[in-house]
Amino acid sequence: MIVGGKPLRPLRARAERDGVVVIDQRALPHRLVFETLATPHAVHAAIRDMWVRGAPLIGATAAYGLALQMRQDASDRALEEVADLLRLARPTAVNLAWAIQRLLRRLRPLQPAERAAAAWDEADAIAEDDVRCNAAIGRHGLPLLQAVDARKPGPVQVLTHCNAGWLATVDWGTATSPIYQAHAAGLAVHVWVDETRPRNQGASLTAWELAQAGVPHTLVADNAGGHLMQRGQVDLVIVGCDRVTAHGDVCNKIGTYLKALAARDNGVPFYVAMPTSTLDLTLRDGLAEIPIEERSPREVTHLAGRSAAGEVLDVQIAPDGTRAANPAFDVTPARLVTALITEHGVVVPAEAALRGLPLESR
Ligand code: MRU
Repeated sequence: MIVGGKPLRPLRARAERDGVVVIDQRALPHRLVFETLATPHAVHAAIRDMWVRGAPLIGATAAYGLALQMRQDASDRALEEVADLLRLARPTAVNLAWAIQRLLRRLRPLQPAERAAAAWDEADAIAEDDVRCNAAIGRHGLPLLQAVDARKPGPVQVLTHCNAGWLATVDWGTATSPIYQAHAAGLAVHVWVDETRPRNQGASLTAWELAQAGVPHTLVADNAGGHLMQRGQVDLVIVGCDRVTAHGDVCNKIGTYLKALAARDNGVPFYVAMPTSTLDLTLRDGLAEIPIEERSPREVTHLAGRSAAGEVLDVQIAPDGTRAANPAFDVTPARLVTALITEHGVVVPAEAALRGLPLESR
C-alpha cells in the first residue's frame, strides 16, 4: 500500500538475504518504526511480542525466520528445532504452522548445502502468494459491496473488527482488500472500525491504514457495533480469521463472536475474508478444538497512548492487584457466518464447499 506517497509493505526481505525488515507495529499509530530481524530467534520474539501480527503476516515472517536459520546451520536437527521454536511463537493462527510446514516439505528432501537458497526462495514465494491471494479476495469481495451500493443511496457501511488489513498481511489485507478495491473503483465506502480491546488493533492499526488510503472511517468502542446494527447503520460486516475449521467455524480476534451475534439478530450479512492458508481441514469443531491464545493480563489492566505532550505512555486503568483474564481469540460458529470470501471465490461455511476448494495454496 502507499504511505506518504511511497509503496510500503510490513515485511520486506533484504536483497542480501541476511534479514527481513518489518514494521514494529507496537509503535503505530504514533511512530512508523522499522526493525531488521536477522536471526530466527529475533523472528520468534517479534511474532511472540506482536511487533508483527495478523495471521498471514506471521506465517510469512516465520518462513523467513526458518530461512535465516538455514544460513547459520542447515542440518536436519537445526531445521526441526527451529521449525518447532517458530511454530510455538503464537498458537492460534494456523498460517504460522502452515508456512513452516510448507518450508519443511520443500527442505527436508534436500541436502543441507542446498537448503539456504531453497528456503529463501520458498519464503519469497509464500510472501508473493499472499499478495496475490489477498488481491483475489478483494476482487471476489468487491461485488458484495457493489450490490449494496446498487440498492441504496449513501456510502456502503462496513463494520470490521481488529486489523485484518495490509499490516496483517504482506499486502492488501484480507478483510480490507474488498474495501480498498471498492474505494479504488470509486464506490463510496465508510468503515466502522472497532477499537478492539485489549490491544486496540482497530484504533491503532486499522484506523491508521484507512487514513493512509483515504478511506472514510469512524472509530467506535467495541460495544457500539450492536447498537449501530440495530439502527440500520451497518450494511455488512467483514472480518478476518486466524483459523477456520472444516465445518466453517471461524476463529478470530476476541469480540468477533459478539459482532456475529448482533449481525444475525439484525439481519446484517457477516462475511469472513479467508485465505485458504487459514483453513485447517484437520479440525471440525472450532469451539472444542482450536487452541485459544491466553495473553498477559497486563494487556487488559494497562493501556498505551500518547500524551498531550507527545510522549507515548503506558497507563494502568484497573485498581492495583486486579485479576484480569485475556483470551485473545474467540470462535464464531459457522451458522452465524454468511459466507467466506476466499481467493477462489465466495463460499458458504460448510464442509463440502470448504473441502472442495483448490488445494495448491494449502
Ligand atoms: O492478535 P492479532 O493482532 O495477531 O490478531 C489478528 C486477527 O485476529 C486478524 O483478524 C486475523 O489474524 C486475520 S489478519 C488478515
